[in-house]
Amino acid sequence: MKKKITVVGAGNVGTTTVQLIAEKDLADVVLIDIIEGVPQGKALDIMEACPIWGSSSKIKGTNNYDDTAGSDIVVITAGLARKPGMSRDDLLAANVKIIREVAANIAKTSPDAIVIVVTNPMDAMAQVALKVTGFPHSRVIGMGGILDTSRMRAFIAMESGALPKDVQAIVLGGHGDLMVPVLSLTKIGDKYITDVLSDEKIDQIIERTKNGGAEIVGLLKTGSAYYAPAASTVDMIECILGIKSEALPCSVNLDGEYGISGVYIGVPVRLGPKGIEEIIEVELSKEEKKGLERSADAVRELIRKIGD
Ligand code: APR
Repeated sequence: MKKKITVVGAGNVGTTTVQLIAEKDLADVVLIDIIEGVPQGKALDIMEACPIWGSSSKIKGTNNYDDTAGSDIVVITAGLARKPGMSRDDLLAANVKIIREVAANIAKTSPDAIVIVVTNPMDAMAQVALKVTGFPHSRVIGMGGILDTSRMRAFIAMESGALPKDVQAIVLGGHGDLMVPVLSLTKIGDKYITDVLSDEKIDQIIERTKNGGAEIVGLLKTGSAYYAPAASTVDMIECILGIKSEALPCSVNLDGEYGISGVYIGVPVRLGPKGIEEIIEVELSKEEKKGLERSADAVRELIRKIGD
């Protein structure tokens, strides 16, 4: 039987995620939003494309959580997106209310679901979703590191002339300005980045990666990125469904790994049908470890601000 995935939020990220799930024929999807007509209209439009894609996915739009009942995976994209000049943290007050409401509904209607949190500021929102659902740590996962990593890979490809698929990288830490690129694991083909690009160029790429989301917000002016965020979310879904098997950087509630406890930050994990199947501890330099700690402190500060 096909798995059931609910996507909460029929905006740019949510709808693009549904489109990719349907195009790849991964699951049946329920798209839910508070605005009447929008999830229904977008779901119908995507359903009408399924025959062309040769997809057997069924797509339904709704405003009622009863339709989402028994979902295997729930993706939360509900909430405000950034406007020019805003940081992800500026979304905190508005989005925390939305996440609390959405998480409470999910816990009631899909108590066995694996939850992927996309709404920003993502690490803190994942922490809120964990608390409100009462789900085990293994079933509440934040999407951020895959996106930051993919952005960095794209920038390296653009600077070096390599194909995007031939660039390997991994970006850990918080999904914000404090993200931590691990240069010792960054390669172009079989060569280390430090053997191909100058230190100055590498610093520029790291800076551009840190500002990758803001760069898109600045260009779009009316909203934030959604193609790469949706693709990153679907990468996680494919691992959970067992279609792909690879270590991916995701935001998880650490329990002593990397010397950090009780806070969500991005680290490499292996995902599977139970959610987080393994947290992988890669060797980090002193500076990278400090970077992770700084990320953890920043997320703790956000959690303190919302009084959770
Ligand atoms: N329940 C369900 N949907 C909601 C709720 C709610 N309580 N509150 C808002 N929404 C819906 C809005 O109606 C809107 O359709 O969330 C959707 C958000 O869509 P966009 O404004 O297009 O935002 P998007 O670009 O999709 O980003 C969503 O993901 O990447 C993050 O920073 C981004 O926090 C933002 C989120």
